[in-house]
Amino acid sequence: MKILVVGGGGREHAIIKKIKENKSVEQIYALPGNGGIAKDATCVDIGAKDIPAIVAFAKEKQIDYAVVAPDDPLVLGCVDALEEIGIPCFGPRASAAIIEGSKVFSKNLMKKYGIPTAEYEVFSNLEDALEYLNSAPIPTVIKADGLALGKGVIIAMTREEAKEAVRSMMEDKIFGESGSNVVIEEFLTGPEVSVLSFTDGKTVIPMISSQDHKRAHDGDTGLNTGGMGTVAPNPYYTADVEKICMEKIFIPTIRAMEAEGRTFKGCLYFGLMLTENGPKVIEYNCRFGDPETQVVLPLLESDLLTVMQATTNGTLDKCEVKFAKSNTCCVIMASNGYPSHYEKGYEITIPDDVLPNVYVAGAAIKDGALVTSGGRVLGVTAKKDTLGEAICEAYRLVEKIKFDNAFYRHDIGKRALMAKETD
Ligand code: AMP
Ligand code: GLY
Repeated sequence: MKILVVGGGGREHAIIKKIKENKSVEQIYALPGNGGIAKDATCVDIGAKDIPAIVAFAKEKQIDYAVVAPDDPLVLGCVDALEEIGIPCFGPRASAAIIEGSKVFSKNLMKKYGIPTAEYEVFSNLEDALEYLNSAPIPTVIKADGLALGKGVIIAMTREEAKEAVRSMMEDKIFGESGSNVVIEEFLTGPEVSVLSFTDGKTVIPMISSQDHKRAHDGDTGLNTGGMGTVAPNPYYTADVEKICMEKIFIPTIRAMEAEGRTFKGCLYFGLMLTENGPKVIEYNCRFGDPETQVVLPLLESDLLTVMQATTNGTLDKCEVKFAKSNTCCVIMASNGYPSHYEKGYEITIPDDVLPNVYVAGAAIKDGALVTSGGRVLGVTAKKDTLGEAICEAYRLVEKIKFDNAFYRHDIGKRALMAKETD
């Protein structure tokens, strides 16, 4: 089989490594891929948002199955365009990807179908939003409606900060048209859990839970990033919590999308907060999370490509999806200064014995050497029997990798480990 994977980060590298385990796969193309993915797939310099070029390439190479991994091409209709020329895909059509593409859509969906989430109001007019903020409970959370590179959420601790956030989105358009509408919502507290799930639109199979670390620095300080590390499973996500989530969130969401004529197929990501009043949805993503994928897929014992095809064919109810009972930890090695300004072009050395544990996010090949080319550079994943061992091993491997200006958090999994010990 000839497989095409759209995207070029650590998540895509994890997907590609797993798909390669299937014996019927002869060739994998990554569009655009990256310098590290080039070891496992043929990288082609076509951007993940260039849908006409992706479609032309898929047609020319007679691709058998395509995996569209990032949010942008999904929201822009990449799956629809590939299906039109007869190529089966993993991922939702644009009509379903809107669950991530529009926060107004997802909040209204949850309200309509009684799915637990933070209380909220939607505004399309700056004056009304500012007026509402005069009496809104503080802290409050301001969200741009559309995609904003993961930066469209501002938690305001004061009324002034909240007004500033609304002005920056609606007046200064810091996120472009994504900020034309804003959601202002209740500030929730509690441990966060990421649950990725496979779904064919009727059946939903949650994967192993995980925990992201979004802030740049130790102790959850510094700016929000795309994610600085993950562990799986997430110890806060007990069997009881899972049961509630399945009944009140996962199944109702899949049914709601179907009832709206927006059947969701692919990976639906539930970003949850375990509040005093039960689990609530913080966000939906229409795709695998990054770097959640780098801890979840290494635990998958079933064949990934077979499961993906079952989501496309609507046969997930007949498909076995098994996960190992082990624990994983992924530490992101980033370029110093990320998520703000950082330098690129530093040579990376990875010992051969560490290579199987590395998912490359932002690196290119220059004069035959692997060099840094992004903010997040590598994800280093270890799998062990216990969480403590997985964390130790991930850091042992990280220390064997060298590049100038490298930085990483030293406390990935620390909270999860403490939660486990106080069980
Ligand atoms: P997002 O970009 O949607 O992933 O949101 C970024 C982060 O903002 C989440 O991981 C949460 O930590 C936080 N967040 C989002 N919504 C809320 C909320 N209603 N209450 C508290 N924190 C929130
Ligand atoms: N790690 C969070 C995300 O993929 O959106």
